[in-house]
Amino acid sequence: MQTDRQVVLEKTVAYVRDQLAGEGSGHDWWHVYRVWQLARRISGAEGADMYVVELASLLHDIADWKFNGGNEAVGPAVAEAWLRGAGAAGADIERICEIIKEVSFKGAGTPTSPPTTLEGAVVQDADRLDALGAIGIARAFAYGGFAHRQIHDPAIRPTEHGSFEAYKASRSTTINHFYEKLLLLKDLMNTETARAIATRRHALMEVFLSEFYSEWEGRT
Ligand code: ADP
Ligand code: NI
Repeated sequence: MQTDRQVVLEKTVAYVRDQLAGEGSGHDWWHVYRVWQLARRISGAEGADMYVVELASLLHDIADWKFNGGNEAVGPAVAEAWLRGAGAAGADIERICEIIKEVSFKGAGTPTSPPTTLEGAVVQDADRLDALGAIGIARAFAYGGFAHRQIHDPAIRPTEHGSFEAYKASRSTTINHFYEKLLLLKDLMNTETARAIATRRHALMEVFLSEFYSEWEGRT
């Protein structure tokens, strides 16, 4: 039996909030909330299917909190089981799970194929935008602390990662993460709407880094 779309949406918000509340690595409910809001905004501007975009953005990180074995199939499977139970239509479930498979970033220098649908492009853009700007800076250092990374070490240079495995295993500093991922994202946006938002957030990170190095040497 198929449930009303608004009901599926409301149930999903409550489910994801419940599952991800208080998560400490940067994939908490508030990350999902921000991605959801950004995705709605981009979706409206780009004319994407709002319902599919909303559900995919709400569920895009659903398995990261529980299964950290790096198995990429788990997220879409958890999302599919949830959506079936919630009474979503089969065709919608298929589109949503395909988007969840497509959104994740695999590391600088590692090819990530672009999303195959406008809705996937929107969700990927929204997820990437949440790694930029003031929020992105906060998340990078929160993650760095969580992973016991150093803030900065001038002797450790940023590197490109040849594979997703190398990206996950990297012991680089949090400042290097800006060069290995965050400053690359502006050129990877799929939509014009996201590119404009990314440009502003990118500029803020450039200012932050320049002030950071200046303070590091006691100049400002
Ligand atoms: P996403 O939710 O976009 O898939 P990730 O799982 O790659 O993102 O990362 C979640 C957050 O943690 C992002 O804001 C990202 O910049 C940050 N992060 C990931 N890896 C690192 C790292 N090595 N150093 C600092 N921050 C990181
Ligand atoms: Ni995410």
